[in-house]
Amino acid sequence: MHGNVRISGAKNSALPIIAASLVSTKKVILENIPDLVDVRTMIELVEYIGSEVEFSHNTLKMHTPKIKNFDAPYDIVRKMRASYYVLGALMARSNQAKVSLPGGCAIGPRPIDLHIKGMKALGVDINVSEGFINAKAKKLIGHDVNLQGPKGTSVGATINVMIAATGAKGDTVISSAACEPEVVDVADFLNVSGCHVSGQGTHTIVIKGSGSAKDVEYAVIPDRIEAGTFAVAAVLTGGSINITGCCPEHLASVLDKLEESGGRVTRKKNSMFVNGHGRKQAINVYVAPFPGFPTDMQAQFMALLATVPGTSTIKETIFENRFMQAVELMRMGADITIEGDTAVINGVRQLSSAYLMASDLRASASLVLAGLAAKGETIVRRIYHLDRGYEKFEEKLRSLGARIERQSE
Ligand code: UD1
Repeated sequence: MHGNVRISGAKNSALPIIAASLVSTKKVILENIPDLVDVRTMIELVEYIGSEVEFSHNTLKMHTPKIKNFDAPYDIVRKMRASYYVLGALMARSNQAKVSLPGGCAIGPRPIDLHIKGMKALGVDINVSEGFINAKAKKLIGHDVNLQGPKGTSVGATINVMIAATGAKGDTVISSAACEPEVVDVADFLNVSGCHVSGQGTHTIVIKGSGSAKDVEYAVIPDRIEAGTFAVAAVLTGGSINITGCCPEHLASVLDKLEESGGRVTRKKNSMFVNGHGRKQAINVYVAPFPGFPTDMQAQFMALLATVPGTSTIKETIFENRFMQAVELMRMGADITIEGDTAVINGVRQLSSAYLMASDLRASASLVLAGLAAKGETIVRRIYHLDRGYEKFEEKLRSLGARIERQSE
C-alpha cells in the first residue's frame, strides 16, 4: 500500500467531549468530529437529554438550554458503553442522573466501580437498582479521590469524575488519574469552555469547581489509534504511507515497536511517513496505560507479527479476553498460542485468505489488515464493528491501493 492518508478526529475524545457539552447552557461548536456510528449514538443520547444538535462535515453544533430528560435509557447505552459519560455531565449540570448500567462486552467484563467511587467522593448519593445507576446530590462538593483500579488507571472514570467535578463546589483532586491524550483533550475542552482544570496529562488532576460559562469552539485531537492502524498497514504490506493530520507524539510507544520490528518511521509534528520495505524481526509487546503501548493497538500488531519471522509475544494487561482475533488469524494459517494474558506468535511466511468473523472494533481492523496481506480473497463478516471507530475505512484503504469492497450480508 502506498500514498497519503488523512486521519480523522479521535473517537475517544469526541464521545466524552460531546457528553461534557451538556454541562453548559452556552453554544458549543466542535470541529474534527469523526462521523462514526458511536458518535451518532452519542448525538442521539444528548438530543434525548435536551440538546439541539446539528452535525455535518465533521462539525457539530450543540446547544442545551434546558435538560428535558435526566436519564440515559438502556436502548442507547446497550449500543455504546461510553454513554456513561452523561452521568458526570448531568451531575455537574443538574445534580441528578439515571443511567442504565452498561453490560460487559466482547472484550471481557468491564466494571464501573471507579466511576461510582468518584461520584460518591463528590457527595453523590448512588444506588444501583433494576439495571440503572440512580444518582442524586443536593450539591456536589469537591473532594480528593484516588481512581487507581486493579489494572491501573481508568480513562473512563478519570474523564467522568473530571466532568462531574466541574459542577462541584470547591476543589477536586483526582490522584492515579489516567494520562491518555484523550483525557488531556477533554480537560482542554473544559478549560476553553470556562472551567478550571489543571494537571491533565499527569497522574494528578485538579478541578476547581466553577461550572462552565462561555460559548466555545474546539477541535478534537486526531485519532491516534486510526493513525497507528495505518502505520501497521504500511509495514504489514511492505508499502509506504504518508499519514497526515496525526500527532506522532501520541503514538511514541507504537512507533517505537514498529521500528523495532523493522518498519522505518519519519516523524514530523503533524504527520509521519511509514515505510515497511525493510527486513522484519520478531518483537515483544507489553500493553500498558499511556504512555505505554495501547491495548487498542495490540490486535493490529498481532496481524503484523503473524508474518514476521521468529517468535513474538504480546502481553495484554488491561482487558481479559482481548485476543479474539487470534483464532480468526489462526484460520488464515497464523501460528499463535494463547497462554493466559500472553499471545505467543510464531511468524509464518504468508497468511492465506479465509472467511472471517469480526468480534469487536480493533479485532475487526486486525482481520482487515491481515486480509490485505494474505494470499487470495478474504471475507470479513460483521464489519459493523468497524463503523463504530473508523471513518471511511475501506475508502481510505482503497485510496492507498488496497483492493477492498463492502458487500451487504
Ligand atoms: C477506554 C477506551 C478504550 C480503551 C481503554 C483503555 C473510550 C470510549 N474507550 O475504555 O478504547 O481500550 O480506555 O485504554 O475511551 N476498570 C475498573 N473499574 C472501573 C473502570 C475500569 O476496574 O470503574 C478497569 C477496566 O476493566 C480495565 C481498566 O480498568 O481493566 C482500564 O479501563 P478504562 O481505562 O476505564 O477503559 P474505558 O474507559 O472503558
